[in-house]
Amino acid sequence: MDNWSRTSWRDKPIKQQPLYPNKEKLKKVETELNKVPPLVFAGEVRNLTKSLAEVTKGKAFLLQGGDCAESFAEFGAVNIRDMFKVILQMAVVLTFAGGCPIVKVGRMGGQFAKPRSSDFEEIDGVKLPSYRGDIINGIAFEEKARIPEPKRMLKAYNQSAATMNLLRAFARGGLADLREVHKWNLGFMQNSMLGERYENLAEQITQTLAFMEACGITSANTPMLHETEIYTSHEALLLNYEEALTRKDSLTGDWYDCSAHLLWIGDRTRGANDAHVEFLRGVHNPIGIKAGPSTDVNELLRVLEILNPQNTQGRINIIVRMGHDKIKSFFPPLLQAIKKEGREVLWSIDPMHGNTIKTSNNYKTRAFDSILSEVNSFFEIHQSEGTYAGGVHLEMTGQNVTECVGGAKAITEKGLESRYETMCDPRLNADQALELAFLIADNLKKRVKRG
Ligand code: PEP
Ligand code: CO
Repeated sequence: MDNWSRTSWRDKPIKQQPLYPNKEKLKKVETELNKVPPLVFAGEVRNLTKSLAEVTKGKAFLLQGGDCAESFAEFGAVNIRDMFKVILQMAVVLTFAGGCPIVKVGRMGGQFAKPRSSDFEEIDGVKLPSYRGDIINGIAFEEKARIPEPKRMLKAYNQSAATMNLLRAFARGGLADLREVHKWNLGFMQNSMLGERYENLAEQITQTLAFMEACGITSANTPMLHETEIYTSHEALLLNYEEALTRKDSLTGDWYDCSAHLLWIGDRTRGANDAHVEFLRGVHNPIGIKAGPSTDVNELLRVLEILNPQNTQGRINIIVRMGHDKIKSFFPPLLQAIKKEGREVLWSIDPMHGNTIKTSNNYKTRAFDSILSEVNSFFEIHQSEGTYAGGVHLEMTGQNVTECVGGAKAITEKGLESRYETMCDPRLNADQALELAFLIADNLKKRVKRG
């Protein structure tokens, strides 16, 4: 790897970084983070790359989702468990109704740093630096809270470690056992239309399991029936943190960013000559690249050459986030150009970030119909180009929040007031996430039928 080191990003232009007032304190924290145990093991990362290669070939589907921003205040077992349950529910819908193996990746255990559209926030004539995520500064609109504090990186690391620990325990310890499929339905969903639709599917799975058991295929002799695999991901935005958690794998001698299995570059920081691309080119994790309407095809091709010179399958995930009204005109030329170059790409759709609107009562929201529409267009475009819609990238939660309008419960603009709790962007609640999973399953089923 030419001229790459963990620190080579420091010589490149960089966007969306905090200005730490106390450089000595920052150095101390970086030194401490350099010594902490990695959060993921390189072998797991290689397994994910292999699974993503299967997705690239159209043999599996990627489900990636979680909070827009994780929070120190909302940290706790219930939130993690409920997020895990919704991911399991969605995965089972996609596998059973869509007939496709699912690779599960949480936006969890490290999704703290946020790019912002403005460096400052102004309320009633008072101007303060923007909130950049709990790993950097505080959300309270107070001068002191908004000062970047290096020690927050240590807290983010510790919270990520505890989150990973619980996820691994849930995945292996029995919660993901298919015989528990009925118990994944969250309490508040039991009387909803989606809850019922899910119950019907869970019943069919239970019957199938009974049949399989009669044939001798049981939880005891088939681990896949009682445990699962869940990977973690976040935006690699705060490079001081990512650098400190980057380690050389003792088995292969390769570098891995051990803060998560998959890292992505945001739509605002994907410049070919910039620090984020420089940093990520040297680590062997699978890399996501957000691609919004401002994406320049030639620059993206350059980024692909830099990040994946060997054109390895499973290395690159382009996360399309154009918006429901733009995807039909902006995405096909991008897809065609990359296809023409023979680039191995896992294409997934983030139907959240191109569909953000402001309501008259001043809420940042997303209309469920726009989200559905962008997902459907994504599948249609791939079908007509003969390529694979590989996955979906969502902002969602296992809680019964009211942040996106619409869905089966028809949340209105006024209704947003009742439980609007996100730290940053509006998330799908558990009902809406499940409704979307059923719609994607329909698309996958059609694809399986067409062969
Ligand atoms: C995000 O995923 O939270 C995000 C900020 O996305 P984007 O970079 O696509 O705007
Ligand atoms: Co977001």
